[in-house]
This record gives sequence, C-alpha cells and structure tokens, in this order.
Amino acid sequence: MKSRTLDAVNNQIQAEFQSAYIYLAMSARFEDMKMSGAANWMRIQWQEETAHAMKLYDHLIRRGESPVLQTIDKPEVSFESALDAFERVLEHERHVTHLIHSLYEVAVEEKDYALQTLLHWFIDEQVEEEENAEAIIDSLRLAGESGQGLFLVDRELGQRAPEEEEDE
Ligand SMILES: [Fe+2]
Ligand SMILES: [Fe+2]
Repeated sequence: MKSRTLDAVNNQIQAEFQSAYIYLAMSARFEDMKMSGAANWMRIQWQEETAHAMKLYDHLIRRGESPVLQTIDKPEVSFESALDAFERVLEHERHVTHLIHSLYEVAVEEKDYALQTLLHWFIDEQVEEEENAEAIIDSLRLAGESGQGLFLVDRELGQRAPEEEEDE
C-alpha cells in the first residue's frame, strides 16, 4: 500500500474511534437526563463506529500493513436537549461523510482499487447515517417541548438493537 493511502486510512480509523467516543459521551449525558432510550441509541452508535474503525483496521491487516493508532480527543458534549444532541449528530456525520469522500479521492488518485471497493460500503453507510439522524430530528421537532412527545420518541430510540454482522 502506498504511504499516502496508508496514512489516510490510519486517519480515518482515528476519526471512527473519535466518533465512537463522542457517541459514548452522549450516551452518558442522556443517562443523566433520564432518557434511557436515547442513551441506548447512542450506545449502539458507539458500537457501530467502533465496528467501522475495525473494518478499516482489518483491511490494513489483510493487506499486510500495520495500523497506527492515534490520539483520541476528550469529547465535548454539553447539550441541553435531545434535539440539540441529534442536530450535533447530523453535523458530525456530515463531517465524517466529507472525510470518507476525501479518503475515496485519495484511493482513486493512488489507484488503490481494493480500498475503493471497501469505501463503497462506507459511502452508502454515510447516506444512511445522515438519513437516520434527519429522521430523528424530524420526530423531535414534532414532539417539541411536550413531555409526552419526548417520552414517545425516547421509547422508540430505546428499541434500536445492534445490527447483525453482515457478510463480506
Ligand atoms: Fe462511522
Ligand atoms: Fe457514523
């Protein structure tokens, strides 16, 4: 693997672990707010982001490269409402989409076809991530300040279960 591509993948591994860390911190904050459903949703998000990091990590291993793990920053999550939190999720996922697209551009420029194929999965995943966050924001906007509305959205978020491992 070319060093430019390798560095770019290592950076993306960091970004995925960083995402995982942010969502775990959000999960803890939702536990504080007694919104156990949203806490559950964020905890599953943490698992998924960790799985994304590991997908890239394993790709490097399979190609005979050594992943180089980087520093993960302390997550800053001080939201006051669920709507605020999920608006941050959407903003963060848009940022990650941008990172994935930049990584794909590197894979194209460096003619790394195997990495391009792997990244197709990530490109689709980001569409889903943004779509999910937008749908939750819509529900939270409808719920507004109503305790009953928030209760129902929280209950729905509590039903999110970990995804089945897909075949590769
Ligand atoms: Fe991710
Ligand atoms: Fe994500």
